[in-house]
Amino acid sequence: MRIVLLGPPGAGKGTQAVKLVEKYNIPHISTGDIFRKNLKEKTELGLKAKEYMDKGLLVPDELVVDIVKDRLVEEDCAKGFLLDGFPRTVDQADALETELSKLGIKLDGVINIEVEDEVLIGRLTGRLVCRKCGATYHSKFNKPKAENVCDLCGGELYTRDDDKEETVKNRLLVYKNQTQPLIDYYTKKGMLKTIDGEADTDTVFAEICKALE
Ligand code: AP5
Ligand code: ZN
Repeated sequence: MRIVLLGPPGAGKGTQAVKLVEKYNIPHISTGDIFRKNLKEKTELGLKAKEYMDKGLLVPDELVVDIVKDRLVEEDCAKGFLLDGFPRTVDQADALETELSKLGIKLDGVINIEVEDEVLIGRLTGRLVCRKCGATYHSKFNKPKAENVCDLCGGELYTRDDDKEETVKNRLLVYKNQTQPLIDYYTKKGMLKTIDGEADTDTVFAEICKALE
């Protein structure tokens, strides 16, 4: 299964990705996670990406595209993959298409998770992430059992630097200007499946699975 997850920041891409990669036994490729991992390791790429991420801006295409291209030719991607947060611009989508046709493969589906802005802001400003395993919680909607401790691994929970309200608003604007055009792009190709992302996580998951069948 080869899937792209599209949707504004906070739509639940990461949340659904975890469930989907388990169900389909495919690797999870999140460009945001790749940048955050690089930042944690203080690589040149991570430090460069941080300049953009902290402002809620997209990292330039030339820094993103090659990373994904290199990842897609790795052995584990032969059985399929889930792209989360990529493509995010029309140029990235074109680059992906070129790469896939070189590899002689096609996407099985592009899932667009739809959520209203107000809900997105509430989700992102309350999000908590585990420092150790990356699991995501919410201070109101999905509380961990013990305050600031991950249920799964006991790791410490933190708030992402780009989840401050000001940055979140900017990320939403950037999404509208640069990423939303991809909805048209994939609709024209007959690949887009839109899912209501405001339902509870299990319902959203069931709807995505149905759309992929
Ligand atoms: P990235 O890490 O991709 O962030 P994003 O797209 O902004 O998405 P998020 O991770 O914020 O949200 P999500 O949709 O995964 O939601 P989640 O499941 O966590 O990108 C970060 C930055 O990196 C970008 O701004 C950019 O600078 C850079 N970048 C990355 N890729 C790039 C690219 N291709 N090109 C250029 N730059 C790039 O859920 C959110 C919250 O809601 C959680 O608290 C969760 O518990 C809760 N929640 C989820 N689902 C539900 C539900 N159904 N009901 C109630 N609560 C829910
Ligand atoms: Zn954890």
